[in-house]
Amino acid sequence: MANAHDQLEKKLEDSNAKPIALPLEFLKAITCDFSSELVLGEGGFGVVYKGVLRSGKIIAVKKLFEICLKKETFQNEARYLMGIRHQNVVQFLGYCAESRWEAIEKPTGSGKHILAEIPKRLLCFEYVSNKSLAKYISVQSVGLEWNMRYKIIKGICSGMKFLHEECCIAHLDLKPENILMDAAMIPKITDFGLSRIFGDQQTRTLTSNPMGTRGYMAPEYLIRGVVSTKADIFSLGVIIIEIITGRRDYPYVQQGCPGITTRSLQQFTEKVVRSWMDKFIISAPKYKSMEICTQQVRRCILIALSCVHPSMERRPAAKDIIQMLNAVDQMQIMVRTLTSNTITLEVESSDTIGDVKAKIQHKGGAMNVTSKIQHKDDNPACRFCCTFGGRQLEENRTVADYNIQNGSTMHVRLCNSFYHKPDKSYIYF
Ligand SMILES: Nc1ncnc2c1ncn2[C@@H]1O[C@H](COP(=O)(O)OP(=O)(O)OP(=O)(O)O)[C@@H](O)[C@H]1O
Ligand SMILES: [Mg+2]
Repeated sequence: MANAHDQLEKKLEDSNAKPIALPLEFLKAITCDFSSELVLGEGGFGVVYKGVLRSGKIIAVKKLFEICLKKETFQNEARYLMGIRHQNVVQFLGYCAESRWEAIEKPTGSGKHILAEIPKRLLCFEYVSNKSLAKYISVQSVGLEWNMRYKIIKGICSGMKFLHEECCIAHLDLKPENILMDAAMIPKITDFGLSRIFGDQQTRTLTSNPMGTRGYMAPEYLIRGVVSTKADIFSLGVIIIEIITGRRDYPYVQQGCPGITTRSLQQFTEKVVRSWMDKFIISAPKYKSMEICTQQVRRCILIALSCVHPSMERRPAAKDIIQMLNAVDQMQIMVRTLTSNTITLEVESSDTIGDVKAKIQHKGGAMNVTSKIQHKDDNPACRFCCTFGGRQLEENRTVADYNIQNGSTMHVRLCNSFYHKPDKSYIYF
């Protein structure tokens, strides 16, 4: 038994292993028989426990309520989860579907007991240590700064694009509680309890009662049970608004759908942008790149408002959202050498200067007129430094930190240590 236990632990430790069927006894052992001390939380479908392996590694064990899930539904769900791997999606590790004979009290209230076969359904996931997004987004004035919020928004959108495009999965219960934050504050989407795989048909009608959470649920799903990836896009829109404003209010809700005007959407957008600009001004050192951040806020709000459009056809797909976000972050800059050779470079506002240097180097190579610096043993990116507006740029700072914008010109010149080797050390494009 100990050996079998070790084998299972070994599989769970292997980050490349496929999800496995785990015996109930094993899950009991790692959760101290589902001890209340190890409860991480409880939701609509079950209780989540901390499972501790002998190595000290922690996994999350979700013990589903017996009444909630039929065997077929469970098996389908477990099958869907297999092989899904993305940095913004919680990794599924294994499942358990066993039945146990247990003595339960007769429903008549006579106090007598009968033996009944109780289905046990459990799902195991990677443990995500920093709680859910819900903890971080309630009020705009406290908590996370803009760059972090923006990173979180991009991460969630990227996870949703993956689920929709690569896995053909509609989540249908996307809400801050189902977005877990890891130690580096990377968002990871969890709980595909309501998800369904779509084939060619992108939209179908759910016959039973739709589950999910009011407030984040798309109207057509809530009222008519229409299931599609566009329902997730609605939830995503509400979440983006909440991440940015700390509230779940937006013009469609405030004024009712029919009376909505472009003007009120614009007013809402401007109000949110202004309030962030005020924040950027107050905390100036953190927000050197005010203009870029402001553009990001505006773009996010516009995206979010299009996501919460009452008509599902008008909502963007997750891949469109990623494109729209990238369009704000991607820019073309000029890079000029001392000899006035110039190239155009595509960079992102989140690129570090180190990334930019690598791109300069690469672009030179691609143009077949690469840097002629041939000094051995050195790192090519260290041979030259970049300046912008006369300032030398630090390797680990970002393009946004220096407020480098579309169309700006950055200069490159040799680092001091190479000045004494003019024959070997010179940059040509
Ligand atoms: N993989 C995990 N790692 C760490 N904590 C987790 C994990 N999964 C869930 N939790 C914790 O358990 C809590 C309960 O999760 P659960 O999914 O049961 O409920 P919920 O997300 O609030 O609602 P729903 O049932 O609609 O998903 C979460 O809020 C989270 O704090
Ligand atoms: Mg959940």
